[in-house]
Amino acid sequence: NEDQFKKIVSHAKEYGFVFPSSDIYDGLSAVYDYGQNGVELKNNIKRYWWEAMTLLHENIVGIDSAIFMHPTIWKASGHVDAFNDPLIDNRDSKKRYRADVLIEDEIAKFDDKIEKEVAKARKRFGDSFDEALFRQTNPRVADIAARRDALHERFANAMEANNLEELRQIIIDQEIVDPISGTKNWTEVRQFNLMFRTEMGSTADGAMTVYLRPETAQGIFVNYLNVQKTGRMRIPFGIAQIGKAFRNEIVARQFIFRMREFEQMEMQFFVRPGEELKWFNTWKETRLRWHKALGLGDRKYRYHDHEKLAHYANAATDIEFEMPFGFKEVEGIHSRTNFDLSQHEKFSGKKIQYFDPELNESYTPYVIETSIGVDRMFLSVLCSCFEEQPLEGGETRAVLHLPPALAPVKCAVMPLVRKDGLPEKAREIVNDLKFDFPTHYEEKDSIGKRYRRQDAIGTPYCVTVDHQTLEDNTVTLRERDSMEQKRVSVDELRGLIHGNVSL
Ligand code: GAP
Repeated sequence: NEDQFKKIVSHAKEYGFVFPSSDIYDGLSAVYDYGQNGVELKNNIKRYWWEAMTLLHENIVGIDSAIFMHPTIWKASGHVDAFNDPLIDNRDSKKRYRADVLIEDEIAKFDDKIEKEVAKARKRFGDSFDEALFRQTNPRVADIAARRDALHERFANAMEANNLEELRQIIIDQEIVDPISGTKNWTEVRQFNLMFRTEMGSTADGAMTVYLRPETAQGIFVNYLNVQKTGRMRIPFGIAQIGKAFRNEIVARQFIFRMREFEQMEMQFFVRPGEELKWFNTWKETRLRWHKALGLGDRKYRYHDHEKLAHYANAATDIEFEMPFGFKEVEGIHSRTNFDLSQHEKFSGKKIQYFDPELNESYTPYVIETSIGVDRMFLSVLCSCFEEQPLEGGETRAVLHLPPALAPVKCAVMPLVRKDGLPEKAREIVNDLKFDFPTHYEEKDSIGKRYRRQDAIGTPYCVTVDHQTLEDNTVTLRERDSMEQKRVSVDELRGLIHGNVSL
């Protein structure tokens, strides 16, 4: 799986999806750029979300708020005081780690041990192996699971109590070593705020400290009144936003999974107090259905309901996706009560209430939030669509089985040879189709190589123009996944392709 992931990362670079930022200066840690194909795939993901949210729900509208916001907003939201990661240093390697991640990795090692036991038993018992029964009854597995659970419980309690000394004690008790120095010479654990700070303007008294937003959600909360009044919105209603967010992540790992500059697609849904858990469940189901509709495979998703909740939440769940490095959070759905609006009411001194004409009373609305990372979704699509497929004759092809609606290029038109009027005919077809969906012209290299290049960027259809085309106006239409080719009339192309590649 690690090898597979490395292949995906290099494929993403080789075919213009994702480049390390500042590549010619050897990159900038946990910052990435999207290339010519990546930007199209990313835009299609954003469109898929935006249209599902705003077009399909008449009570959800969008906004685009600024990245810079009044610094008091981050005081009110709790980010200035509590948006921290617990850090620990190793005195020998001088490397800095997230204490919670070191412990999570240790917990994951127990899981690996269990999986190894299961794999061993499967090999031994063959077809007659009952995995569920084995997991329940094998004493070795039970022992590992018990130690895992005890560690997990101790860790969760320390995190909840924000007990930094206990986190350090767990690291010492578990004898966790620094992967670089191999030693256990740890410092104390201390809090590190994840927000990026900068200065705005310059006055005689000095400049104002402002933050790069660590989530887009606060831009929605502080515009709640503006949108509700000007849009004459009635509860329940939602506000959606797509935009950049910034976090000074300490552990830069797993490619675009954890970035310092990333993009979020968030929606805050404002409801009557007391109705929030009903809406939480509705959104939980709606969001999973949206993911599954892409067709990446239903079994790749699971919920992870949170037992320990943030102080302002009364329910929270993650939608996890099976990446090559395990099931990982892609989206969070949170019932945030009226915490944020009440805080902004308190800190701004403005009344943020809703008059409910049906109940004939005013209240501060409760909020259900759906929050998904664009880049994580991009990674989940890339990982599940990449295949090195063996072909007849011992060859392999690298193919991206992208959902056609997300593919950067929908159709590539190729003249079989660069003469006899075939390029002109191919260009004519491109010019005809390109207004309906992204269609590219390709004439370089052999036809086989051109197919491979299109497979590698996930183009669902290739159209080949040959000498017969000039006689009867037919072309070969090749489908990416089956590689099947059929002869169709040029006049049919738009109809055959369009229905399959639109959202
Ligand atoms: N407003 C709620 C909020 O921001 P979160 O769980 O911190 O909640 C929501 O983030 C989503 O944003 C995550 O599920 C993930 O997809 C994405 N995300 C968070 N931090 C990220 C990072 N450093 N790099 C990439 N995506 C990130």
